[in-house]
Amino acid sequence: MNDDHDPLLLDHEIDGIRELDNKLPRWWVLLFYGCTIFAAFYLVYFHVLRAGPLMAAEYDREMKVGNEIKIAAMSKFEATIPSAEPSKDAAVLDQGKALFLRNCAPCHRPDGGGLVGPNLTDDYWIHGSSFSDNLKTIWNGVPEKGMVTWRGTLKPTEIYAAASYIYTLRGTTPPNPKPREDQAPKQTGPNIYE
Ligand code: HEC
Repeated sequence: MNDDHDPLLLDHEIDGIRELDNKLPRWWVLLFYGCTIFAAFYLVYFHVLRAGPLMAAEYDREMKVGNEIKIAAMSKFEATIPSAEPSKDAAVLDQGKALFLRNCAPCHRPDGGGLVGPNLTDDYWIHGSSFSDNLKTIWNGVPEKGMVTWRGTLKPTEIYAAASYIYTLRGTTPPNPKPREDQAPKQTGPNIYE
């Protein structure tokens, strides 16, 4: 209960609720004025003079920088892969098979029928069905969907070998495959050059 003679107590009362006229702490008042002054400068700088980039522009700029890094990494990668066509060389395919069984089979099954990861033997692809689409998916991964990025873990030649081996699994019909990705558009992978 507040003392009725409290000098800070204001006269008015609503439903028994009364108000104290407390002095605001100095730090609070300074912060308040500081924010108000900042807001005025901010408004004039960004919205009247348009002197600085707003959030959307900053986002675009950073995306552009990020894309350039990506493209540079990708072109470096493409310069180091032996070919844009899957290999038919038995030694490369054997290496690819060994890599696939060791690294990829836990999710895609040894026969490529799919487990956590999708079936790699059918005609339905989430990220594009061309050989270079596969290379890009393996290189970049789809981390948010559980497909690991293999850049850095496998050498470009190893990614090439694993992708070439996967290519030979196409059209095989392993038992109990993971259902195909019917909804996924065919032949259209994410285009990192955009
Ligand atoms: C931890 C589990 C996991 C491992 C290990 C894994 N993948 Fe995947 N992979 C996935 C998942 C999940 C997807 C589906 C991504 C999506 O839905 O976008 C996928 C997608 C793919 C795709 C694209 C399929 C499509 O339909 O477009 C290819 C190609 C692929 N993986 C190859 C490989 C290779 C090669 C390896 C080994 C070097 C490997 N994966 C290892 C989980 C894995």
